[in-house]
Amino acid sequence: MRDTPEPDVLLDWYDQHARKLPWRISPQDQRAGTVPDPYRIWLSEIMLQQTTVAAVKTYFERFTHLWPTIHDLAQAEDGRVMGEWAGLGYYARARNLLKCARVVSGELGGVFPDTVEALQKLPGIGPYTAGAIAAIAFNQPAVVVDGNVERVMARMFDIHTPLPAAKPELTDYAAGLTPHSRPGDYAQAVMDLGATICTPRNPACGICPWRKPCLARQAGTAAELPKKTPK
Ligand code: ADE
Repeated sequence: MRDTPEPDVLLDWYDQHARKLPWRISPQDQRAGTVPDPYRIWLSEIMLQQTTVAAVKTYFERFTHLWPTIHDLAQAEDGRVMGEWAGLGYYARARNLLKCARVVSGELGGVFPDTVEALQKLPGIGPYTAGAIAAIAFNQPAVVVDGNVERVMARMFDIHTPLPAAKPELTDYAAGLTPHSRPGDYAQAVMDLGATICTPRNPACGICPWRKPCLARQAGTAAELPKKTPK
């Protein structure tokens, strides 16, 4: 029987190698009792929707400095928020950001819902973002599948079906691996693995914590996966 990928092996790696990101609570701080602020997780996930981590960092710091809570953001003037968003692009995100802040602040007492279903009803929050917030802010075992996760799953299970057709299959594999212990850290660990080791080009298979069970590494196909249907 082949080795199966163990979430715990990835979590041990994350404990040692988690990226330090301004919205992230380190696994060590979480053990010491620090809990994530759903407002900051939500804001980061909206900013990260079509933008790289590197670009988001300074915007995130600026927004949370200007508007430390959901109530502060909800009361901001539209033009001010749009001005601070300038450069991030996809301006519908900023308009939905304000709409969502005003719903959560004005109608929900400033408390974000903690389920995927309820989160998805808020402006600007689709299935991916709802899953990411439920996992990271509320430690729910939500299945979180972004481009990083698709790549990691395509390689782990050596899936040659091209994207986007492969998406349901890759989502099933991701769902099968999502643990009930530390699901928030697990979601972030897969993202970090995809961003730092299981990279689109020149994956660093030699130092990957999941190299043993990885079928693409065994087959020598990691660098060519995932396949994509030409546009
Ligand atoms: N991309 C989307 N969400 C992310 C997160 N929370 N951490 C790192 N990269 C991400």
